[in-house]
Amino acid sequence: MEHSIALVTGATSGLGYASARLLAGEGWHEIIVTGRSLAGAQQAAAQLAAETKAKVVFTPLELDLDSPTSVQSALAELVKRGRPIDFLLLNAGLVPFKKRVLTASGIEASQAPLIGHHQLTVGLLSANLLSPNARIVIAGAEPARGGVPMFKYTGVPAFAAKSYQGNRTAAVEALIRNGPNVKYVPNNAYADAKLIIAWWTAALARRLPSGMAVYAVSPGGATDTKVVRSAGPLLKYLFIPIVNLIPGMNQTPETAARRYLQASEFGTDVSGQFFASAQGKFSGPIEAQRHPHLHDRASQEAAWQAVVKVSGVDFSSAPSLSAVS
Ligand SMILES: NC(=O)c1ccc[n+]([C@@H]2O[C@H](COP(=O)([O-])OP(=O)(O)OC[C@H]3O[C@@H](n4cnc5c(N)ncnc54)[C@H](OP(=O)(O)O)[C@@H]3O)[C@@H](O)[C@H]2O)c1
Repeated sequence: MEHSIALVTGATSGLGYASARLLAGEGWHEIIVTGRSLAGAQQAAAQLAAETKAKVVFTPLELDLDSPTSVQSALAELVKRGRPIDFLLLNAGLVPFKKRVLTASGIEASQAPLIGHHQLTVGLLSANLLSPNARIVIAGAEPARGGVPMFKYTGVPAFAAKSYQGNRTAAVEALIRNGPNVKYVPNNAYADAKLIIAWWTAALARRLPSGMAVYAVSPGGATDTKVVRSAGPLLKYLFIPIVNLIPGMNQTPETAARRYLQASEFGTDVSGQFFASAQGKFSGPIEAQRHPHLHDRASQEAAWQAVVKVSGVDFSSAPSLSAVS
Protein backbone atom coordinates (compact mmCIF):
# COMPACT_ATOMS: atom_id res chain seq x y z
CA MET A 1 0.00 0.00 0.00
CA GLU A 2 1.21 3.47 -0.91
CA HIS A 3 1.76 5.63 2.21
CA SER A 4 0.36 8.73 0.64
CA ILE A 5 -3.15 9.75 1.77
CA ALA A 6 -5.02 8.43 4.80
CA LEU A 7 -8.45 9.45 6.08
CA VAL A 8 -9.25 8.97 9.77
CA THR A 9 -12.82 9.39 11.03
CA GLY A 10 -13.45 10.56 14.59
CA ALA A 11 -10.01 12.13 14.81
CA THR A 12 -10.97 14.85 17.29
CA SER A 13 -10.12 12.68 20.29
CA GLY A 14 -8.97 9.30 21.57
CA LEU A 15 -7.86 6.63 19.14
CA GLY A 16 -8.61 8.60 15.98
CA TYR A 17 -6.36 11.41 17.15
CA ALA A 18 -3.66 8.97 18.27
CA SER A 19 -3.87 7.17 14.90
CA ALA A 20 -3.42 10.40 12.95
CA ARG A 21 -0.31 11.17 15.01
CA LEU A 22 1.10 7.68 14.47
CA LEU A 23 0.47 7.83 10.73
CA ALA A 24 2.37 11.11 10.55
CA GLY A 25 5.30 9.42 12.29
CA GLU A 26 5.19 6.63 9.73
CA GLY A 27 5.76 8.93 6.77
CA TRP A 28 2.25 9.44 5.41
CA HIS A 29 2.12 12.56 3.25
CA GLU A 30 -1.41 13.71 4.01
CA ILE A 31 -3.86 12.73 6.71
CA ILE A 32 -7.48 13.84 6.36
CA VAL A 33 -8.87 14.20 9.88
CA THR A 34 -12.62 14.30 10.33
CA GLY A 35 -14.75 15.78 13.08
CA ARG A 36 -18.48 16.28 13.49
CA SER A 37 -17.96 20.01 12.96
CA LEU A 38 -15.42 21.77 10.75
CA ALA A 39 -14.22 23.77 13.76
CA GLY A 40 -13.51 20.54 15.68
CA ALA A 41 -11.65 19.01 12.74
CA GLN A 42 -9.65 22.21 12.24
CA GLN A 43 -8.70 22.29 15.89
CA ALA A 44 -7.54 18.66 15.78
CA ALA A 45 -5.57 19.29 12.56
CA ALA A 46 -3.87 22.35 14.04
CA GLN A 47 -3.01 20.53 17.27
CA LEU A 48 -1.64 17.53 15.36
CA ALA A 49 0.47 19.80 13.16
CA ALA A 50 1.87 21.53 16.26
CA GLU A 51 2.71 18.19 17.91
CA THR A 52 4.26 16.61 14.82
CA LYS A 53 7.76 17.26 13.59
CA ALA A 54 7.34 15.19 10.42
CA LYS A 55 6.53 16.92 7.12
CA VAL A 56 2.88 16.02 6.76
CA VAL A 57 -0.32 17.80 5.84
CA PHE A 58 -3.31 17.39 8.16
CA THR A 59 -6.48 18.27 6.26
CA PRO A 60 -9.61 18.94 8.32
CA LEU A 61 -12.93 17.62 7.00
CA GLU A 62 -16.39 17.99 8.50
CA LEU A 63 -18.14 14.62 8.81
CA ASP A 64 -21.10 13.93 11.05
CA LEU A 65 -21.89 10.26 10.52
CA ASP A 66 -25.40 10.74 11.95
CA SER A 67 -26.28 13.00 9.05
CA PRO A 68 -26.57 11.78 5.43
CA THR A 69 -26.29 15.41 4.29
CA SER A 70 -22.98 15.79 6.12
CA VAL A 71 -21.65 12.55 4.56
CA GLN A 72 -22.76 13.77 1.15
CA SER A 73 -20.96 17.13 1.65
CA ALA A 74 -17.78 15.36 2.80
CA LEU A 75 -17.91 13.12 -0.27
CA ALA A 76 -18.46 16.11 -2.54
CA GLU A 77 -15.39 17.75 -0.98
CA LEU A 78 -13.30 14.59 -1.57
CA VAL A 79 -14.56 14.32 -5.16
CA LYS A 80 -13.58 17.96 -5.74
CA ARG A 81 -10.04 17.16 -4.55
CA GLY A 82 -10.01 14.06 -6.77
CA ARG A 83 -7.06 12.36 -5.02
CA PRO A 84 -7.50 8.66 -4.11
CA ILE A 85 -7.22 7.54 -0.52
CA ASP A 86 -4.82 4.71 0.35
CA PHE A 87 -5.92 4.04 3.93
CA LEU A 88 -9.49 4.60 5.08
CA LEU A 89 -9.65 4.33 8.85
CA LEU A 90 -13.30 4.16 9.99
CA ASN A 91 -12.62 4.71 13.66
CA ALA A 92 -15.52 6.88 14.90
CA GLY A 93 -17.89 5.21 17.33
CA LEU A 94 -19.35 5.42 20.79
CA VAL A 95 -20.62 3.45 23.75
CA PRO A 96 -24.35 4.18 23.81
CA PHE A 97 -26.17 6.41 26.22
CA LYS A 98 -27.95 5.23 29.35
CA LYS A 99 -31.23 6.28 27.77
CA ARG A 100 -31.92 5.31 24.17
CA VAL A 101 -30.93 7.98 21.64
CA LEU A 102 -32.07 7.85 18.02
CA THR A 103 -30.69 10.01 15.21
CA ALA A 104 -33.00 12.10 13.03
CA SER A 105 -33.05 9.12 10.62
CA GLY A 106 -34.31 6.83 13.40
CA ILE A 107 -31.04 4.96 13.97
CA GLU A 108 -29.79 4.00 17.43
CA ALA A 109 -26.81 6.25 18.27
CA SER A 110 -24.13 3.54 18.56
CA GLN A 111 -25.29 1.97 15.25
CA ALA A 112 -25.27 5.30 13.41
CA PRO A 113 -21.50 5.47 12.72
CA LEU A 114 -21.69 2.26 10.65
CA ILE A 115 -24.48 3.69 8.51
CA GLY A 116 -22.45 6.87 7.88
CA HIS A 117 -19.27 4.84 7.31
CA HIS A 118 -21.13 2.68 4.78
CA GLN A 119 -22.35 5.77 2.92
CA LEU A 120 -18.82 7.20 2.94
CA THR A 121 -17.11 3.97 1.83
CA VAL A 122 -19.59 3.20 -0.95
CA GLY A 123 -19.44 6.84 -2.08
CA LEU A 124 -15.63 6.69 -2.30
CA LEU A 125 -15.69 3.35 -4.12
CA SER A 126 -18.30 4.59 -6.57
CA ALA A 127 -16.31 7.76 -7.25
CA ASN A 128 -13.07 5.77 -7.75
CA LEU A 129 -11.51 7.56 -4.82
CA LEU A 130 -9.91 4.53 -3.17
CA SER A 131 -6.53 3.55 -4.61
CA PRO A 132 -6.30 0.06 -6.22
CA ASN A 133 -4.52 -1.42 -3.16
CA ALA A 134 -6.41 0.58 -0.56
CA ARG A 135 -6.90 -0.76 2.94
CA ILE A 136 -10.05 -0.10 4.95
CA VAL A 137 -10.05 -0.64 8.72
CA ILE A 138 -13.19 -0.25 10.82
CA ALA A 139 -13.28 -0.18 14.63
CA GLY A 140 -14.69 -3.33 16.17
CA ALA A 141 -14.75 -4.47 19.80
CA GLU A 142 -14.45 -7.71 21.79
CA PRO A 143 -18.13 -7.84 22.87
CA ALA A 144 -18.97 -8.81 19.25
CA ARG A 145 -17.51 -12.25 19.87
CA GLY A 146 -19.14 -12.68 23.30
CA GLY A 147 -17.66 -13.61 26.65
CA VAL A 148 -17.35 -10.01 27.93
CA PRO A 149 -19.10 -9.51 31.29
CA MET A 150 -22.04 -7.07 31.17
CA PHE A 151 -22.19 -7.12 27.33
CA LYS A 152 -24.37 -9.56 25.39
CA TYR A 153 -24.93 -9.62 21.65
CA THR A 154 -28.26 -10.73 20.19
CA GLY A 155 -28.50 -14.22 18.67
CA VAL A 156 -29.82 -12.98 15.33
CA PRO A 157 -30.98 -16.32 13.86
CA ALA A 158 -33.12 -17.02 16.95
CA PHE A 159 -34.36 -13.40 17.16
CA ALA A 160 -35.29 -13.49 13.46
CA ALA A 161 -37.10 -16.81 13.90
CA LYS A 162 -39.03 -15.50 16.90
CA SER A 163 -40.02 -12.05 15.67
CA TYR A 164 -39.47 -11.84 11.89
CA GLN A 165 -40.50 -15.22 10.42
CA GLY A 166 -36.82 -16.05 10.01
CA ASN A 167 -36.00 -12.87 8.04
CA ARG A 168 -32.53 -11.94 9.35
CA THR A 169 -32.34 -8.73 7.34
CA ALA A 170 -35.47 -7.48 9.10
CA ALA A 171 -34.01 -8.61 12.44
CA VAL A 172 -30.72 -6.73 11.88
CA GLU A 173 -32.65 -3.65 10.75
CA ALA A 174 -34.62 -3.82 14.02
CA LEU A 175 -31.31 -3.89 15.95
CA ILE A 176 -29.96 -0.93 13.96
CA ARG A 177 -33.14 1.04 14.70
CA ASN A 178 -33.52 -0.47 18.17
CA GLY A 179 -37.05 -1.47 17.48
CA PRO A 180 -39.58 -2.90 17.15
CA ASN A 181 -39.20 -6.02 19.31
CA VAL A 182 -35.84 -4.86 20.73
CA LYS A 183 -35.43 -3.96 24.39
CA TYR A 184 -32.90 -1.16 24.88
CA VAL A 185 -29.95 -2.29 26.99
CA PRO A 186 -27.03 0.08 26.24
CA ASN A 187 -24.18 -2.43 26.59
CA ASN A 188 -26.04 -4.97 24.48
CA ALA A 189 -26.74 -2.32 21.84
CA TYR A 190 -22.96 -1.72 21.71
CA ALA A 191 -22.23 -5.46 21.37
CA ASP A 192 -24.80 -5.67 18.55
CA ALA A 193 -23.37 -2.59 16.82
CA LYS A 194 -19.89 -4.12 16.81
CA LEU A 195 -21.20 -7.54 15.72
CA ILE A 196 -23.01 -5.95 12.77
CA ILE A 197 -19.75 -4.17 11.93
CA ALA A 198 -17.90 -7.52 11.86
CA TRP A 199 -20.57 -9.00 9.56
CA TRP A 200 -20.62 -5.90 7.32
CA THR A 201 -16.83 -6.14 6.99
CA ALA A 202 -17.04 -9.75 5.77
CA ALA A 203 -19.77 -8.85 3.28
CA LEU A 204 -17.90 -5.78 2.00
CA ALA A 205 -14.73 -7.87 1.47
CA ARG A 206 -16.67 -10.03 -1.02
CA ARG A 207 -17.65 -6.92 -2.98
CA LEU A 208 -14.31 -5.07 -3.10
CA PRO A 209 -12.08 -4.95 -6.20
CA SER A 210 -9.38 -7.65 -5.91
CA GLY A 211 -6.44 -5.46 -4.75
CA MET A 212 -8.33 -3.83 -1.87
CA ALA A 213 -8.99 -5.25 1.59
CA VAL A 214 -11.11 -4.46 4.63
CA TYR A 215 -10.72 -5.59 8.25
CA ALA A 216 -12.67 -5.02 11.45
CA VAL A 217 -10.17 -4.38 14.22
CA SER A 218 -10.77 -4.02 17.92
CA PRO A 219 -8.33 -1.51 19.39
CA GLY A 220 -8.76 -3.34 22.72
CA GLY A 221 -9.21 -1.68 26.07
CA ALA A 222 -7.99 1.91 26.15
CA THR A 223 -10.09 3.72 28.69
CA ASP A 224 -7.93 6.86 28.64
CA THR A 225 -10.11 8.19 25.78
CA LYS A 226 -13.60 9.69 25.83
CA VAL A 227 -15.21 6.41 24.76
CA VAL A 228 -17.38 5.85 27.83
CA ARG A 229 -18.46 9.47 28.28
CA SER A 230 -22.06 8.54 27.48
CA ALA A 231 -22.15 5.21 29.33
CA GLY A 232 -24.05 4.49 32.53
CA PRO A 233 -22.41 4.71 35.98
CA LEU A 234 -22.11 0.92 36.41
CA LEU A 235 -19.84 0.63 33.40
CA LYS A 236 -18.01 3.90 34.05
CA TYR A 237 -17.42 3.69 37.78
CA LEU A 238 -17.47 -0.04 38.51
CA PHE A 239 -16.73 -2.34 35.57
CA ILE A 240 -13.94 -0.31 33.94
CA PRO A 241 -12.07 0.60 37.16
CA ILE A 242 -12.18 -3.06 38.23
CA VAL A 243 -11.02 -4.33 34.83
CA ASN A 244 -8.22 -1.75 34.84
CA LEU A 245 -6.88 -3.27 38.06
CA ILE A 246 -6.23 -6.54 36.22
CA PRO A 247 -2.79 -6.46 34.57
CA GLY A 248 -2.93 -6.50 30.77
CA MET A 249 -6.57 -5.45 30.47
CA ASN A 250 -5.96 -1.82 29.49
CA GLN A 251 -3.46 -0.06 27.26
CA THR A 252 -2.54 3.43 26.15
CA PRO A 253 -4.50 5.02 23.30
CA GLU A 254 -1.30 4.94 21.24
CA THR A 255 -0.83 1.17 21.74
CA ALA A 256 -4.50 0.61 20.91
CA ALA A 257 -4.29 2.79 17.78
CA ARG A 258 -1.23 0.83 16.61
CA ARG A 259 -3.53 -2.13 16.05
CA TYR A 260 -5.30 -0.24 13.26
CA LEU A 261 -1.98 0.55 11.60
CA GLN A 262 -0.79 -3.03 12.01
CA ALA A 263 -3.93 -4.33 10.28
CA SER A 264 -3.51 -1.84 7.43
CA GLU A 265 -0.42 -3.82 6.42
CA PHE A 266 -2.29 -7.18 6.25
CA GLY A 267 -2.84 -8.91 2.92
CA THR A 268 -5.95 -9.48 0.87
CA ASP A 269 -5.93 -13.13 1.98
CA VAL A 270 -7.38 -12.13 5.36
CA SER A 271 -9.72 -9.44 4.03
CA GLY A 272 -13.13 -9.47 5.70
CA GLN A 273 -11.90 -10.86 9.02
CA PHE A 274 -12.36 -9.48 12.51
CA PHE A 275 -9.16 -9.06 14.55
CA ALA A 276 -9.28 -8.65 18.32
CA SER A 277 -7.46 -9.51 21.55
CA ALA A 278 -7.13 -13.15 22.58
CA GLN A 279 -10.17 -14.59 24.41
CA GLY A 280 -10.53 -13.07 27.88
CA LYS A 281 -8.15 -10.18 27.14
CA PHE A 282 -8.43 -6.54 26.06
CA SER A 283 -4.78 -5.96 25.18
CA GLY A 284 -1.80 -7.77 23.69
CA PRO A 285 -1.51 -9.14 20.17
CA ILE A 286 -4.54 -9.24 17.87
CA GLU A 287 -5.74 -12.44 16.27
CA ALA A 288 -8.39 -13.37 13.71
CA GLN A 289 -11.57 -14.32 15.52
CA ARG A 290 -12.88 -17.80 14.78
CA HIS A 291 -16.22 -17.83 16.62
CA PRO A 292 -18.82 -19.51 14.38
CA HIS A 293 -21.44 -16.73 14.67
CA LEU A 294 -18.94 -14.25 13.21
CA HIS A 295 -18.48 -16.47 10.15
CA ASP A 296 -22.17 -17.18 9.54
CA ARG A 297 -22.52 -16.12 5.91
CA ALA A 298 -26.29 -15.77 6.03
CA SER A 299 -25.99 -13.30 8.93
CA GLN A 300 -23.17 -11.43 7.17
CA GLU A 301 -25.28 -10.97 4.06
CA ALA A 302 -28.37 -10.08 6.12
CA ALA A 303 -26.32 -7.40 7.91
CA TRP A 304 -25.13 -6.01 4.57
CA GLN A 305 -28.69 -5.89 3.20
CA ALA A 306 -29.99 -4.24 6.37
CA VAL A 307 -27.27 -1.58 6.21
CA VAL A 308 -28.02 -1.02 2.51
CA LYS A 309 -31.71 -0.60 3.33
CA VAL A 310 -31.21 1.75 6.28
CA SER A 311 -28.52 3.83 4.55
CA GLY A 312 -30.29 3.94 1.18
CA VAL A 313 -26.98 3.15 -0.55
CA ASP A 314 -25.85 -0.04 -2.28
CA PHE A 315 -22.41 -0.62 -3.72
CA SER A 316 -23.55 -2.05 -7.03
CA SER A 317 -26.25 0.55 -7.50
CA ALA A 318 -24.64 3.73 -6.23
CA PRO A 319 -22.68 5.22 -9.13
CA SER A 320 -23.33 8.79 -8.04
CA LEU A 321 -23.30 10.83 -4.89
CA SER A 322 -26.98 11.57 -5.27
CA ALA A 323 -27.66 8.08 -3.91
CA VAL A 324 -26.63 9.35 -0.46
CA SER A 325 -29.73 11.15 0.67
N1 LIG B 1 -11.32 2.98 23.93
C1 LIG B 1 -11.66 1.72 24.04
O1 LIG B 1 -11.46 1.08 25.09
C2 LIG B 1 -12.29 1.01 22.88
C3 LIG B 1 -12.41 -0.39 22.91
C4 LIG B 1 -12.97 -1.05 21.82
C5 LIG B 1 -13.40 -0.31 20.73
N2 LIG B 1 -13.29 1.04 20.73
C6 LIG B 1 -13.75 1.77 19.54
O2 LIG B 1 -12.73 2.65 19.12
C7 LIG B 1 -13.32 3.77 18.44
C8 LIG B 1 -12.73 5.07 18.97
O3 LIG B 1 -13.08 5.23 20.34
P1 LIG B 1 -12.27 6.16 21.34
O4 LIG B 1 -11.93 5.30 22.50
O5 LIG B 1 -11.20 6.88 20.65
O6 LIG B 1 -13.45 7.16 21.79
P2 LIG B 1 -13.55 8.75 21.78
O7 LIG B 1 -12.39 9.37 22.46
O8 LIG B 1 -14.91 9.04 22.31
O9 LIG B 1 -13.49 9.12 20.22
C9 LIG B 1 -14.53 8.79 19.35
C10 LIG B 1 -14.50 9.69 18.14
O10 LIG B 1 -15.58 9.29 17.27
C11 LIG B 1 -16.35 10.47 16.96
N3 LIG B 1 -17.74 10.10 16.71
C12 LIG B 1 -18.55 9.29 17.44
N4 LIG B 1 -19.76 9.20 16.85
C13 LIG B 1 -19.71 9.96 15.74
C14 LIG B 1 -20.64 10.28 14.72
N5 LIG B 1 -21.88 9.80 14.72
N6 LIG B 1 -20.24 11.10 13.72
C15 LIG B 1 -18.99 11.58 13.69
N7 LIG B 1 -18.06 11.34 14.63
C16 LIG B 1 -18.43 10.53 15.63
C17 LIG B 1 -16.21 11.35 18.19
O11 LIG B 1 -16.56 12.67 17.85
P3 LIG B 1 -17.30 13.61 18.95
O12 LIG B 1 -16.26 13.87 20.01
O13 LIG B 1 -17.68 14.83 18.19
O14 LIG B 1 -18.46 12.83 19.47
C18 LIG B 1 -14.72 11.16 18.48
O15 LIG B 1 -13.94 11.95 17.60
C19 LIG B 1 -14.83 3.64 18.64
O16 LIG B 1 -15.40 3.08 17.47
C20 LIG B 1 -14.96 2.67 19.82
O17 LIG B 1 -16.16 1.95 19.79
C21 LIG B 1 -12.74 1.72 21.77
